[in-house]
Amino acid sequence: MADRQGIILTTMSQPILLTLHLFAAIFFVGTVFFEVLILEGIRKPLGREAMREVERAIGRRARRFMPFVILVLFGAGIGMAWPYRETLAHPFDTSFATLLWLKILLAASVLAHFIAAMVLGGTGRLKTRHFQRIHISVFCHVVLIVFLAKAMFYLHW
Ligand code: HEM
Repeated sequence: MADRQGIILTTMSQPILLTLHLFAAIFFVGTVFFEVLILEGIRKPLGREAMREVERAIGRRARRFMPFVILVLFGAGIGMAWPYRETLAHPFDTSFATLLWLKILLAASVLAHFIAAMVLGGTGRLKTRHFQRIHISVFCHVVLIVFLAKAMFYLHW
């Protein structure tokens, strides 16, 4: 009975979690793509001082919004990964487990980058050089994460 209730709850909550995860992922990945592909491209024409001002303003805005986006992204992700916990207990037994583990590890690294940026930004130590490096690194991470999110269902070995 408890098992059946568990299955019904999982079946009902999975589509809700997936929708929340997808919206949060679009928000997060979209912001990273904008910062790297659009913002970095206007660094020269904008000039150093104006760009510093833009970076500070973006930092303030990000500190307001992003913690909620990250909370939804990771909360829904953990909720969706929960039914796969038996599979995840054996990371090298299936291609799905290996790829999902890789995705989770990359997501954990993104979280570490985010916390580092928040701490540096909050204490006024986020220099342009850090801002650029963190963005490019997070950009590479999210490209891989999105690829893995699909590959784990379609790539088999
Ligand atoms: C930067 C962080 C993350 C990003 C950008 C991200 C992105 C995505 C995307 C784009 C999908 C595909 C959604 C779809 O097919 O409609 C997905 C699926 C998934 N993600 Fe994440 N994710 C992140 C973090 C996490 C974390 C931390 C976990 C678990 C601990 C997780 C677990 C999952 C699972 C299990 C699926 C497959 C859901 C399913 O279709 O059954 N994700 N993720």
